[in-house]
Amino acid sequence: MAEKFELRDVIAIGRTFDEYCRMFNLTFTRLKGAAILDAGGGVSSFTAEANGLGLNVKSADHIYGFSPRELESKSAVDLAEMLSKIDEIRDNYNWDFYGNSTGLAQYRENARAGFIADYKLNRAPRYVNTGFPWTVFTGGEFDITIMSHLLFLYDEHLDYGFHADTVAELLRITREEVMIYPLFNLRWKKSLFVDRIMGDARFTKARFTVKKSGFEFVKGADEYLSIMP
Ligand SMILES: C[S@@+](CC[C@H](N)C(=O)[O-])C[C@H]1O[C@@H](n2cnc3c(N)ncnc32)[C@H](O)[C@@H]1O
Repeated sequence: MAEKFELRDVIAIGRTFDEYCRMFNLTFTRLKGAAILDAGGGVSSFTAEANGLGLNVKSADHIYGFSPRELESKSAVDLAEMLSKIDEIRDNYNWDFYGNSTGLAQYRENARAGFIADYKLNRAPRYVNTGFPWTVFTGGEFDITIMSHLLFLYDEHLDYGFHADTVAELLRITREEVMIYPLFNLRWKKSLFVDRIMGDARFTKARFTVKKSGFEFVKGADEYLSIMP
């Protein structure tokens, strides 16, 4: 039995608006009128779909220097790698939402297609080529910042210093709430960095709350971290 989901690096696969809303219990009422950042948005279609609904969302990622064609092909390679491994570790996942790996692939392909179409049309205003931990954004530029599938998940690729500096940056650029999901790593266990961040003396002014998520793909990964700056 595999001990972890073995990935060479952080991969460029994306999720949809529907999946984000489930992960972070987002409602239209909560999002309406807010300046929102999808931090590490990658090839997710959250920003594209949200703007289509009249919401004010930008996405930040250090891959946005690449062309639509380059991102499409990198994401296709990464998705194929992920799918080639998923069946042998399928028991670590709860398949109620996706049904099976074909259903999962469909969501990832829909996300990529939605992202690529919008990236071709609205790259300059919506997709900001910037890297964590230090971004180009001004202090308090966003009301809400959402981070899906980057911090905590990749705790073997990204060290504690990166995690703490990135949380500090998210808090600097956000006025109301930072949300991070999942809290589990690629070993399908809660990352030890979650408690370490919550107890870090750098963040004594911030209010941390672990909240129940409406989404659970990795078994047990049904929580997200809410941080009020
Ligand atoms: C697994 S993908 C998740 C994408 C999206 N948030 C979602 O859940 O669908 C992780 C993303 O984080 C981005 N990323 C990794 N390290 C980063 C960094 N230092 N600064 C900005 N983005 C980064 C990657 O380029 C990739 O697009």
